[in-house]
Amino acid sequence: MNKLKLVFATNNQNKLKEVQAMLTNFEIISLADLNCFDDIPEIAETLEGNAIIKANFITEKYGLNCFADDTGLEVEALNNEPGVFSARYAGGTNSAEENMKKLLKNLSNNFNRKAQFRTAIALNIQGKQFIFEGICKGSILKKKQGDKGFGYDPIFMPAGFNKSFAEMNMSEKSTISHRGKAIEKLVTFLNNYTW
Ligand code: IMP
Repeated sequence: MNKLKLVFATNNQNKLKEVQAMLTNFEIISLADLNCFDDIPEIAETLEGNAIIKANFITEKYGLNCFADDTGLEVEALNNEPGVFSARYAGGTNSAEENMKKLLKNLSNNFNRKAQFRTAIALNIQGKQFIFEGICKGSILKKKQGDKGFGYDPIFMPAGFNKSFAEMNMSEKSTISHRGKAIEKLVTFLNNYTW
């Protein structure tokens, strides 16, 4: 049987490999495979909006089925900031250290440390669009713990655990993570999709 081609609009090789392993019925193509090095502007005000911009850009430019993701950390006491600005919270440098420093400073000694990571995935397939969401609830620690992972991992403790994301190995994190849950929904949908 011919495999349906599906672009994953990401430059992150780890995300790509993870998804390829779960979607063996599909031919998963990366942006690099397409020779697409465009800087796709993520200018929407929501995670869903940014995921849609990326997926639509590829579908419109190449006429291909595509999915794209966008993730943000939403901190309750900060009106759900940094949210859609998570990557560049401390400015344009995208430095995880600076972002965490700014977040800890803004939250200061606030008692309400509730936060969640949220991932939105937009899928364009055969003329239709579907959105999938994954949420991981937790709290913001007072200082960094652990050195694994990336981004805000050292200061995020998932609910029901006594350690930060940065103290978990990748497989432990991905079974409970926002991205893991969103990808699981996408995979279930696609593995039941007939064309
Ligand atoms: P992206 O949409 O996956 O590129 O994520 C946007 C930003 O959110 C990243 O640059 C990180 O700062 C943060 N982020 C996303 N996922 C995670 C995660 O699993 N752990 C920690 N930070 C994350």
